Amino acid sequence: MAKMEHHARVIVERTAEQATAAAANLFKTIVCEAVGQRHRAHVALAGGTTPHALYQKLAADATSGEVPWREVEVFFGDERDVPQDHVESNYHMAQRVLLDHVPIDPSRVHPMPADAQDMQAAAEQYEATIRKAVPAEGGHVPRFDLVLLGMGGDGHTASLFPNTDALKEHHRLVYAGFVPVLGRNRMTFTYPLINAARNVMFLVTGGDKAEAVLGVLGDSDEIRKQLPAAAVKPTNGCLIMVLDSAAARLTGIAPAGA
Ligand code: 6PG
Repeated sequence: MAKMEHHARVIVERTAEQATAAAANLFKTIVCEAVGQRHRAHVALAGGTTPHALYQKLAADATSGEVPWREVEVFFGDERDVPQDHVESNYHMAQRVLLDHVPIDPSRVHPMPADAQDMQAAAEQYEATIRKAVPAEGGHVPRFDLVLLGMGGDGHTASLFPNTDALKEHHRLVYAGFVPVLGRNRMTFTYPLINAARNVMFLVTGGDKAEAVLGVLGDSDEIRKQLPAAAVKPTNGCLIMVLDSAAARLTGIAPAGA
């Protein structure tokens, strides 16, 4: 097993379903703690396909009352340059699968305007909305209670893709730009905003992510610096990586209860 030098709490579950259930439990714990202490939970949701099952589970559990949805405020960690009702929209997926099924205050759901004509102005506007809603607590960067992230096979996370200028943004909290590998524009949280969070939770499943997961958790700086997800290191918060055994298979970390 590679020597694992990282700062993450790594949770490995045998199946994707079990990893999703573990992530749902952590989501509930983090949100309840935030609401218990600060009467509000500020959460940034992830996009892509992996979180779909998590959002389904949170929606299915909504009637249990375990999550104080009326005190939750939702933002999005990144978004594609499509309208909010487009099938590729991260907001559309979260709205359809989760937000339409929980008693969240619609005024506390903030879609990311990644299809705006003026993307820079839209990114600045979204940052202003975050700064207004999410306390920075003495610092100057708003602190989310939870930033939920996925990871691509190339180690990208949110829309922080390898070899893009977004990785070099250390002042703005929201960045909009062209992603050559996609041939599309994206809008994304930047590292300063992600790393200011109290909790950052990756949910990564599937064997196609195993190489990237090993790179992020491994101790090769050479490899890590090529993987944007490896630079997610909360300054004063918890980094949690929830994996299924397929995504963790190269790390040598055994699933819980194995
Ligand atoms: C997006 C996501 C992106 C995603 C990874 C993994 O907008 O696509 O923010 O970062 O988390 O690409 O995607 P999958 O979960 O679909 O594998």
